[in-house]
Amino acid sequence: MSRRSDDRRVALVTGANRGIGLAVCRQLAERGVVVLLGARDAAAGDAAARTLQADGLEVRPIVIDTDHRETFDAAREAIEREFGKLDILVNNIGIGCDWAYTAANVPMPLLRNTFEINFFSVVELTQRLLPLVRKSPAGRIVNQSSAIGSLAGHATPESWAMGDRPLAYSASKTALNAFTVHLACALRDTPIKVNAAHPGIVKTDPNPNGLITPEEGARTSVALALLPDDGPTGGFFHLGEAVPW
Ligand SMILES: NC(=O)c1ccc[n+]([C@@H]2O[C@H](COP(=O)([O-])OP(=O)(O)OC[C@H]3O[C@@H](n4cnc5c(N)ncnc54)[C@H](OP(=O)(O)O)[C@@H]3O)[C@@H](O)[C@H]2O)c1
Repeated sequence: MSRRSDDRRVALVTGANRGIGLAVCRQLAERGVVVLLGARDAAAGDAAARTLQADGLEVRPIVIDTDHRETFDAAREAIEREFGKLDILVNNIGIGCDWAYTAANVPMPLLRNTFEINFFSVVELTQRLLPLVRKSPAGRIVNQSSAIGSLAGHATPESWAMGDRPLAYSASKTALNAFTVHLACALRDTPIKVNAAHPGIVKTDPNPNGLITPEEGARTSVALALLPDDGPTGGFFHLGEAVPW
């Protein structure tokens, strides 16, 4: 496949066949970004992309499966071949929540698997795609975090009075926040901006009692994906407001 000659921004959104990720794809594509819709299941990715293509949006499915890390390299090669760069990476894949347990009894396999998906796979995918993000004149990396990863939030007596927190999910997002600030530091001499987003309490399959729609939940990460050159890096935000670490 020959390389595109236009200079439209190119974004990859992971875990995007449903929920917040799908809404992020729509909003980025509506702003003229060519969107690669990441899904671990090719059929689910195709179906989701078709719903956006039907509205005239330039969205292509791409397989990103944390259980098959060779899909990370295949994605990098496909993006390199067709676009030669990646302007926006939205790391949206996430699993949780272990509300049935506390830090005192969370099973180790659950803790390890949550970190594998929510932290290690994000670091690995980002590292593998970074050479392409470096080729963008204004790279943006957005990590879909959660306010539940805020240690400042968990450390108050008011928070303790509200009861137990799920360690695996919370700590995996705390680690993701750490990756965000460390990567922003590592890239401080480049135009790349790296930020973490709290989408809000969003009504999606894993959170049926969510308070806002996926479209509303997508807004923070979309804004961070489209930050201007004088925007922040190494921050944690919800709708433009800083979230405590
Ligand atoms: N909903 C909320 O209130 C809320 C609040 C704070 C933060 N967040 C964060 O926002 C992000 C999206 O959440 P959501 O509520 O939209 O979740 P969701 O509807 O469950 O969507 C999760 C996406 O991640 C994919 N995924 C899960 N495990 C994967 C794996 N091992 N490999 C590849 N893809 C995988 C899913 O693919 P399949 O369809 O194949 O399972 C799906 O596309 C997550 O990082 C979540 O932690 C959500």
